[in-house]
Amino acid sequence: MTKSVSPQLLKVHRMEKKQVHDIPKEERPKYHMSSPTGWINDPNGFSVFQGQYHLFFQYHPYSKKWGPMHWGHCTSRDFIKWEYLPCALAPDESYDEAGCFSGSAVEVDGEHVLIYTGVMDRYLDDGFHYYRQVQCMAKGDGIRYRKFAENPIITGESTPEGSSLEDFRDPKVWREDDGFYLVVGSRAGDGSGQVLLYHSKDLKQWEYVTVLDKSENKYGKMWECPDFFPLGCKQILMVSPQDMRAWGLEFHNGNNSLFIYGQYDKKSHEFTRENITSADYGLDFYAPQTMLTEDGRRILIGWMQSWDANITPAPFQWSGMMTIPRELTYEQGRIYQRPVRELEAYRTDMVQYENVPITESTVLSGIRGRVLELLVEITGFGFEHFRIRFAQNEEYETFVQYSHKKRCLTIDRTHSGIDRDVVCRRKMELAPMRVFPGKGEGEQEVLKLRILLDKYSVEVFANDGEKVMSSLFYTPMEADGIAFDCDGTACISVTKYSFGNL
Ligand code: FRU
Repeated sequence: MTKSVSPQLLKVHRMEKKQVHDIPKEERPKYHMSSPTGWINDPNGFSVFQGQYHLFFQYHPYSKKWGPMHWGHCTSRDFIKWEYLPCALAPDESYDEAGCFSGSAVEVDGEHVLIYTGVMDRYLDDGFHYYRQVQCMAKGDGIRYRKFAENPIITGESTPEGSSLEDFRDPKVWREDDGFYLVVGSRAGDGSGQVLLYHSKDLKQWEYVTVLDKSENKYGKMWECPDFFPLGCKQILMVSPQDMRAWGLEFHNGNNSLFIYGQYDKKSHEFTRENITSADYGLDFYAPQTMLTEDGRRILIGWMQSWDANITPAPFQWSGMMTIPRELTYEQGRIYQRPVRELEAYRTDMVQYENVPITESTVLSGIRGRVLELLVEITGFGFEHFRIRFAQNEEYETFVQYSHKKRCLTIDRTHSGIDRDVVCRRKMELAPMRVFPGKGEGEQEVLKLRILLDKYSVEVFANDGEKVMSSLFYTPMEADGIAFDCDGTACISVTKYSFGNL
């Protein structure tokens, strides 16, 4: 049995009706999902239900700051155009009074089932501070969701000895032949993260199965927002660790997201870790979640903002957006990410240049703007540094720079107009690809950058998606220049598309 709509949820619905329409469309990104009103963080419940894509998200509708978490809701038919639906969950029960934290969704017998973390935070009569995270369920028809009357469905008492009862969150559920499974983040006795696996026949009674993998203080502290899925010949455990220490150019954002590659034995439930890569190298990426489309594509979406430097401009009534949904494939020993192919249907106004030598700061006619896709291929490498500056005018710029000798790509938003330039630059290792252009011609080097700009965000997909950098920059919109700079000679081909159909 489930309960009916609460006054807390009705209050949000009333507020959303007014507020969401008051925010001018021009203020929002054009093809990225952004907060309806107030604050958003993690993507939740990313799933397909009755033929539509559903995306929920951590949501504090009452302010632009994180607060008691709700689940906001939107749907899409193509991952590009999103329609806001009424808030799905509010913290309105004793077991989630302090927040409905992250979780996931699955379609079961015509119902949309949400599994999320309920947070309790209160002082007991004897003065004791009681804080707990538990797993809860709600079911709905794609618009209205009702919480399960017997919540919580999993409590910290079921976790291995020594595990934290306070840090136990972000269940990701999926169906297998023998029932349902979920992975959930937890903190082991050593204070660092672990991912626990649970099994259920009916989504109500859950039994603890095993620890799939753990940090042992090597890969950050608490492991948030786990996901677990097969990809090519690998099984991927995706986690978002808090408090990571940087290694070389890796893990610089404090909170990071990792792909852990391995093998999984479905019978013994043993996951054997093989290697780890970062999911993104930009300044703004966290808590990604994946879903499987009906045509078998594994799609990832992440929160394109960061805990330590969130920078929405003061006049905006909303804060937070998601990345472009990305198709994942396993190629050449790592995960490749590419924007969902649905985006290509919106391309208009192609402008193309082939084999242009760049020897100084160069502007190419027809290549400017803040909502576009830019495909840049570098084939001549007679330089130390090659730069693409965008959202640029006399006062502002953000750039990506390729350093050929160091084989390194940098993103820099120091002069994007940000107040307090505390965290403004990231670098990643990147080597040109080796290609064989045609018969009789030898091997050639090419560095490919596919750059998505959407007013205030940039996503750089390098070398067909081998590595990605996602960052925000809230530069005034009149800075819409794009320039190519080089300290030697570069040879580049450039294709630009607008998204005039959106
Ligand atoms: C990750 C996270 C989750 C938690 C949620 C709360 O960004 O900290 O672990 O469920 O945000 O909003």
